[in-house]
Amino acid sequence: MATQDEVFKKIVSHAKEYGFVFQSSEIYDGLSAVYDYGQNGVELKNNIKRYWWDSMTLLNENIVGIDSAIFMHPTIWKASGHVDAFNDPLIDNRDSKKRYRADVLIEDYLAKIDEKIDKEVAKARKRFGDSFDEAVFCSTNPRVLENVAKRDAVHERFANALNDNNLEELRQIILDCEIVCPISGTRNWTDVRQFNLMFKTEMGSTADGAMGVYLRPETAQGIFVNYLNVQKTGRMRIPFGIAQIGKAFRNEIVARQFIFRMREFEQMEMQFFVRPGQELEWFGKWKETRMRWHKALGLGDWKYRYHDHDKLAHYANAATDIEFEMPFGFKEVEGIHSRTNFDLSQHEKFSGKKIQYFDPELNESYTPYVIETSIGVDRMFLTVLCSSYEEQELEGGDKRVVLHLPAALAPVKCAVMPLVRKDGLPEKAREIVNELRFDFTTRYDEKDSIGKRYRRQDAIGTPFCITVDHQTLEDNTVTLRRRDTMEQSRVNVADLHKIIHDEVSINSLLRKLS
Ligand code: GAP
Repeated sequence: MATQDEVFKKIVSHAKEYGFVFQSSEIYDGLSAVYDYGQNGVELKNNIKRYWWDSMTLLNENIVGIDSAIFMHPTIWKASGHVDAFNDPLIDNRDSKKRYRADVLIEDYLAKIDEKIDKEVAKARKRFGDSFDEAVFCSTNPRVLENVAKRDAVHERFANALNDNNLEELRQIILDCEIVCPISGTRNWTDVRQFNLMFKTEMGSTADGAMGVYLRPETAQGIFVNYLNVQKTGRMRIPFGIAQIGKAFRNEIVARQFIFRMREFEQMEMQFFVRPGQELEWFGKWKETRMRWHKALGLGDWKYRYHDHDKLAHYANAATDIEFEMPFGFKEVEGIHSRTNFDLSQHEKFSGKKIQYFDPELNESYTPYVIETSIGVDRMFLTVLCSSYEEQELEGGDKRVVLHLPAALAPVKCAVMPLVRKDGLPEKAREIVNELRFDFTTRYDEKDSIGKRYRRQDAIGTPFCITVDHQTLEDNTVTLRRRDTMEQSRVNVADLHKIIHDEVSINSLLRKLS
């Protein structure tokens, strides 16, 4: 059986082979951690964005959207704390000359201890069968107890070091845990240093005195600096939210795992403004709402978990991640943060403009508190891709690669195929395409055997294939084939639209949420 690593490699090459994701600037040997989306990738990505956007702006009458510029006044990043605190702790191995994030090295070490504990539990479950009591086992087994104690001790030191910004202690933990460089295998580590992740560029010609500006590392600040504009022009009353989808840029130290950690990526962020004191209640609500959004896709409820933060960002009083089980372990897909009134207060201070809300019910003014939901489009894309990919052995020794994409997200909804390229079948098939294409991304395919054509559509996750044959000319029925079950049924052309619509519309997902 293929290892998870091998599966992931296959998914990456499948993404390229079928026009989902290409390495940026490939003919120039590529640009590290930057990717382009191909003809199928862009459709899947747009569908993910549509699902998110509609779930925010259609299902919540108190959430509106904006689209702010990537360039913003540089003082915004001073006010938000990014100039001083948007850093990652980096460490180099002197032998391999490779650079790592010190916090990630320690997190990986902790994850390995967790894996050991899980293995012990799984082994015992197998041995004891139905009589197995996990709680009793974990509280008595010496090997589990030893690993739990070791993990908790390192974890506590790690959390304290992060909270105190203690770089020497981070290095000491790496040394004490005997963490080695995966390339050189040695423990010849440099000191830990802070590295600011923002990209900087210049605006205006040098003759005019160019201004240093940043490429935004998050879309959220574009929402905060427009808070007053939207609140006043939209006559918004608290609680209300502002949603935005857009590019963000981070000069990541270690860019790994394909589109999981990129230097140019896209975020879908929503800032929800609430009354001070009510933020933790709203934080809980948004935690649940966002998990429901993920689970409605049907990728497997067991693949999700929350991960509450040990180290809170400089602006937060509560934070959690929604993690998804990728082939390389549980990883963050979305962050939900209670950002207090930090950002609005800072912008008030740095801009000198009053940013307050007059609450008619309380008859007082205050700076609103904020709950943020922030999800990476690219990570979501990877989540969907990884959980959809399957290599299937079919009866008769045949094989197929199929993407079980949620139908509403699939790049192509249906493919129409004439059984043969003659006898008026292509013309009839084109007629059907011309009807369906107004509502669904529809492909016409007449090349190769029908089996090969089905395989091509399976590989890009097309939920429906429609085959036109001689009987179609007689009774206006076609064969409708379903991707996942490969089940085929005879349906009337007049019914196609409804059958497809019921399964592939974004509405079908949104209805699960409301
Ligand atoms: N405004 C809050 C914020 O930006 P974050 O946890 O740094 O919070 C939010 O980022 C989400 O953006 C992450 O959960 C992830 O999905 C995505 N993201 C962050 N850095 C990324 C990167 N380098 N490449 C791809 N996605 C990234």
